[in-house]
Amino acid sequence: MEALLPTLVMSLLLSASIVTSTETRKPVLYVFGDSLSDVGNNNYLIFSLAKSDYPWYGIDYYGGIPTGRFTNGRTIGDIIAAKLGIPSPPPYLSLSEYDDAMLKGVNYASGGAGILNETGIYFIEKLSFDDQIGCYEETKEAITLKLGRVASEKLSNEAIFLVGLGSNDYINNFLRPFLADGHIYTLEQFEDLLMNTLGGQLTRLYFAGARKVIFHGLSPMGCIPSQRAISGNGQCLDYVNDYVMRFNKRVKYLLSVLNSRLPGAQMTFADCYDSVLDLINRPEIYGFKISHTSCCNVDTTVGGLCLPNSNLCSNRAEYVFWDAYHPTDAANEVLANILFADPEIAKVHPALGRNASPPSPR
Ligand SMILES: *[C@@H]1O[C@H](CO)[C@@H](O)[C@H](O)[C@H]1NC(C)=O
Repeated sequence: MEALLPTLVMSLLLSASIVTSTETRKPVLYVFGDSLSDVGNNNYLIFSLAKSDYPWYGIDYYGGIPTGRFTNGRTIGDIIAAKLGIPSPPPYLSLSEYDDAMLKGVNYASGGAGILNETGIYFIEKLSFDDQIGCYEETKEAITLKLGRVASEKLSNEAIFLVGLGSNDYINNFLRPFLADGHIYTLEQFEDLLMNTLGGQLTRLYFAGARKVIFHGLSPMGCIPSQRAISGNGQCLDYVNDYVMRFNKRVKYLLSVLNSRLPGAQMTFADCYDSVLDLINRPEIYGFKISHTSCCNVDTTVGGLCLPNSNLCSNRAEYVFWDAYHPTDAANEVLANILFADPEIAKVHPALGRNASPPSPR
């Protein structure tokens, strides 16, 4: 018995140090968002109309098959995970509560989702940001059952929370003339509603253990093919870009307020507006040829997604946009590189910024 005790203590110490060292080397990644980061959750929502489980989605993904990603290849979350040296977090709805995969990361993103519940209402079913946070709370409970409260809290505190939401609150809500929000609210009132809601949501995430939050700011949405089609002359919609800049500025301020109020919070704004605008204005600098229209020939009057009978461009890597809303795999790689080159983001976690490479040339 006397001889056994030191051995037991030794092996306990040993296993504890193994756990710590793997944690510092391999970050845990939780992804929240919309169709820009959905990796298959909506495939599990029977009534959802926001789906991409058909060709030619996924044509450049492993195996060339549709997975529920709204692009020809990888989402930005996939590429960030690869740069962090971890597997791409699986869709939440693909996991059982016993699945150990959740210890490495989970993706809660859902096509059509917004900050507001009512955003994307016509997609019938999707996980709004509130729903996604509820799913994360379930994950946290399941991890607590596996590891105990202290280890579970530590895992959450050290994990990277990548949040990318807001596009749909404009494109599939405020800017839609047949929906209520654009009529009942002025722009400023709508922004107040978004900020109050987002502030509450990020605070809820904080109390569920989130500390290292990266909020992926909005891109110049006025220049995506669906918005250029609305302009009638193929130009960017400047007022939409103005809305985006106002939104980004207010989110940045909101995060600074949350950081000052919530001890230990490290919420960071990933600003990609100028870089993406540059990519759209000067695609050739980044190895692209076309940025004003999409690779997949889409009909924006019937939704703007790439349908099985659509024609594809011959070189998908030369296009910034895949369909009327979503970047190509090649453009997502540039976006991920921009994020990794941001010194503010590198401060959030030592693994971020480690594999930064300059955004040009590919
Ligand atoms: C949004 O939905 C969530 C549950 O999905 C609910 O808890 C929340 O109260 C709703 N928010 C509003 C403003 O209705």
